[in-house]
Amino acid sequence: MTHRLTSEEINQYCEKYTSVERPELYDLNRQTNLRTELPVMLSGHLQGKVLSMLSHMIQPKYILEIGTFTGYSAICLSEGLQPGGKLITIDTNAETSELCMEYIHKCHLQDKIEVVIGQATEIIPTLDIEFDLVFIDADKINYSNYFDLVVDKVKSGGYILADNVLYHGDVLDLTKAGKNAKAMHAYNEKINQDIRMESVLLPLRDGIMISRKK
Ligand SMILES: C[S@@+](CC[C@H](N)C(=O)[O-])C[C@H]1O[C@@H](n2cnc3c(N)ncnc32)[C@H](O)[C@@H]1O
Repeated sequence: MTHRLTSEEINQYCEKYTSVERPELYDLNRQTNLRTELPVMLSGHLQGKVLSMLSHMIQPKYILEIGTFTGYSAICLSEGLQPGGKLITIDTNAETSELCMEYIHKCHLQDKIEVVIGQATEIIPTLDIEFDLVFIDADKINYSNYFDLVVDKVKSGGYILADNVLYHGDVLDLTKAGKNAKAMHAYNEKINQDIRMESVLLPLRDGIMISRKK
């Protein structure tokens, strides 16, 4: 199963003309492949660099990530944090989060990234922080709930990114789509109709929705 909508050749060409991954991220990708059951969930070189670039452009003070996995995207997003800034990342899986902690230490990011283990729907309401940037990348079925839970915690002019919104292209035919693709389509519709948000859906990897709170 691939999460990519572009051909392998195009992807390789794009990666060739994208700045190289830092060695710790290359290594984290390898270890994720060796030590986890679903390594395809990791963002990877190209998307990781896009997340890093967006974070550098936004220069956030506070970032929330929903869906840590082994920490690849968290490390990329943390690269644009303001001095003294912080990224909080939530995941239910304590085992994969351990690999994330290992690489947070290798990258000396322990003061910048906090990993919280638990159900995102329970943890988000306990966070009393105004976020500049939120990255939604957990269970698809809850994307719309995550949006509702975070939108009031996002600064005006802040951003919400959502991954996998094209769900391998399955959003195009809802008669054959499974529950995850249907949930992604519902999220896209919801964001598109929300007058508080301005959005662009990029066909990067599995589709990423970039939404700015007006
Ligand atoms: C696609 S992976 C995240 C990939 C990561 N952001 C990256 O780019 O490398 C999705 C993660 O969401 C986590 N997850 C699923 N349901 C969750 C929930 N209800 N609350 C918090 N995390 C959840 C899974 O354990 C999994 O590690």
